[in-house]
Amino acid sequence: MKSKNDNQAPLGFATRAIHDGYDPTSAEGALVPPVHMTSTFTFETAEQGAALFAGEEDGHFYTRISNPTLSLLELRMASLEGAEAAMATASGMGAITSTLWTLLEQGDEILVDKTLYGCTFSYFQHGLTKFGVTIKHVDMREPENVRDAITNNTKVIYFETPANPNMRLVEIGAVAQIAKENGIITVVDNTYATPYLTRPISWGADIVVHSATKYLGGHGDLVAGIIAGSQEMIDRIRLEGVKDMTGAVMAPLTAFQIMRGLKTLEIRMDRHCSSAELVAQQLEDHPAVKKVYFPGLKSFEQYGLAKRQMAKPGGMIAFELEGELATGTKFMNDLNLIKRAVSLGDVDTLVQHPASMTHSTYTPEERAEHGISDTLMRLSIGLETPDDIMTDLKYALDRALTRTRDNKVA
Ligand SMILES: Cc1ncc(COP(=O)(O)O)c(C=O)c1O
Repeated sequence: MKSKNDNQAPLGFATRAIHDGYDPTSAEGALVPPVHMTSTFTFETAEQGAALFAGEEDGHFYTRISNPTLSLLELRMASLEGAEAAMATASGMGAITSTLWTLLEQGDEILVDKTLYGCTFSYFQHGLTKFGVTIKHVDMREPENVRDAITNNTKVIYFETPANPNMRLVEIGAVAQIAKENGIITVVDNTYATPYLTRPISWGADIVVHSATKYLGGHGDLVAGIIAGSQEMIDRIRLEGVKDMTGAVMAPLTAFQIMRGLKTLEIRMDRHCSSAELVAQQLEDHPAVKKVYFPGLKSFEQYGLAKRQMAKPGGMIAFELEGELATGTKFMNDLNLIKRAVSLGDVDTLVQHPASMTHSTYTPEERAEHGISDTLMRLSIGLETPDDIMTDLKYALDRALTRTRDNKVA
């Protein structure tokens, strides 16, 4: 499909998410692209097989390297992220590890933000270090901290924005500029924002990674990842990181599911964001809640940056309850509609407790140092009727308040 309409105006985000890269006449008129459920591809001749292996001819020969269904998803994700190319992977961790195994070698240094998803943190802290890569944690809310931490060995700068779980933002343009001045590659995990809200490459980042398990898939029924960047970077990651090192390739059926998810990404995100704004405001007004971290609230420390960098504030909320750890546990158990589950970005509203769940990969000291308090709760606002989400929360918050007051009296 053409990427411009007949007036030569670029096509919109939702239009590209639905149509990019597919011509039904190439598949007997099928409206929905066929799924190529095949591990390998036949060669017309032995010579053609040799030419494909030598890279002298374009084409698919083995699904760990490429497959037409994966290629279509990759083309769409590249288009949505404003990247030259993309690569589909088996999981978000597959995207992150395949990228960094490609970019780093023994003796290199990587600067990473202080707050990261628990398994990403664990991969840096316990995985990469085993292979002689030095990890330096920097509070990237202040871009100049990044400049101060750079050495001759720094090869990559890595961060999430908003960060999982405490919603801290990083100013992509400022950090990417510092990286460029020093010949360093910037990798951004764009899982929370999605390309609908933030496009890191347009701010100067080199590579974007995603857990496509989250908003891109959107329905809690798959595990997947995406990497987007320049054609040269993606070719390298495909042939070094994924083909030889992690083998973390996406299954064609998963690519089909994600393409179905992408068709509604824009309208889902609009609803996630509007419901989250309502919930965040009401949480802030509830006396059982100590602090709410949501980029759309005026009280949010980086509200100005959120306005500049994000089209909308997103569907994720972090908050602290008055009381202690047990207050949060009881609060979660009092919820009925909202499900106690990790993951995020699903149609279902989910709640979890980072310190004992997704971020239990940090030691208590590391959590304290990296800004993840024991009473922090994480909410992923789903697509249910907003009043029903709030009614469920209010019931559990009211009970939390009664308990806190009773404890104070006792
Ligand atoms: C921000 C972020 N990045 C990466 C990942 C890892 O993705 P996956 O679970 O698809 O491997 C997650 C998972 O929760 C995440 O929240």
